[in-house]
Amino acid sequence: MRPFKTAFTQPMLKAYQAGVMAYTYRGVRCLKSPIDIAIYMKLLWDLKPRLILEIGSHSGGSALLLADLAHSQGLDAKVISIDLNIPDIDDPRIRFLQGDVMTLEPVLQHAGIADLPHPWFVTEDSAHTYRGCTAALEVFAERMAPGDILAMEDGILDELGLSERYEGGPNRAVEEFIAARPQSFAIAEDLCDMFGPNATYSPNGYLRKL
Ligand SMILES: C[S@@+](CC[C@H](N)C(=O)[O-])C[C@H]1O[C@@H](n2cnc3c(N)ncnc32)[C@H](O)[C@@H]1O
Repeated sequence: MRPFKTAFTQPMLKAYQAGVMAYTYRGVRCLKSPIDIAIYMKLLWDLKPRLILEIGSHSGGSALLLADLAHSQGLDAKVISIDLNIPDIDDPRIRFLQGDVMTLEPVLQHAGIADLPHPWFVTEDSAHTYRGCTAALEVFAERMAPGDILAMEDGILDELGLSERYEGGPNRAVEEFIAARPQSFAIAEDLCDMFGPNATYSPNGYLRKL
């Protein structure tokens, strides 16, 4: 497995992270790194997903952004966002669902998501714990089709000094999962390295289903 070290330096990362945490999209909090927004924009155009599935809605700003991007790119994609708590956003293009990353399979089945056409773009941006990330990888390794893309968000928390709080978080989950199941996902280096080696909040976190 290649290193998870990002292209960010510590002094730069501190200020960048403050901007990410304060960012809003159309007046709604949207906790996305701008580099990753640019990666999302290109991957959506290239992948042309029929399903955009977000785990971790927060205020709904990122779902709003994803719905606008899908609309502006003329994509025929359903946008679904799952969280423990449903945000106070009313947009007919977005389906917000209550669900827990630890038990996603019943949500996917009850909401009919499991049967939706591919390609899928899944962004896992919820609990960020090692166990939560691993639970998501287990479900999506079964449910995703070859070529689908999963963004395992926020492995940057290692470099923010928060890894211990998340039991190793996304990076540990990705490393262990791919080591144990090398036929499941490949690191999409074209996406991770679009702006330089792992110049992203999701180092080695853009995964292409094999
Ligand atoms: C980082 S925020 C999501 C940010 C959002 N995607 C954005 O870019 O603006 C994390 C979200 O995950 C949700 N969350 C935390 N634990 C969760 C779990 N076990 N299952 C589902 N969602 C969870 C929290 O309620 C919170 O809204």
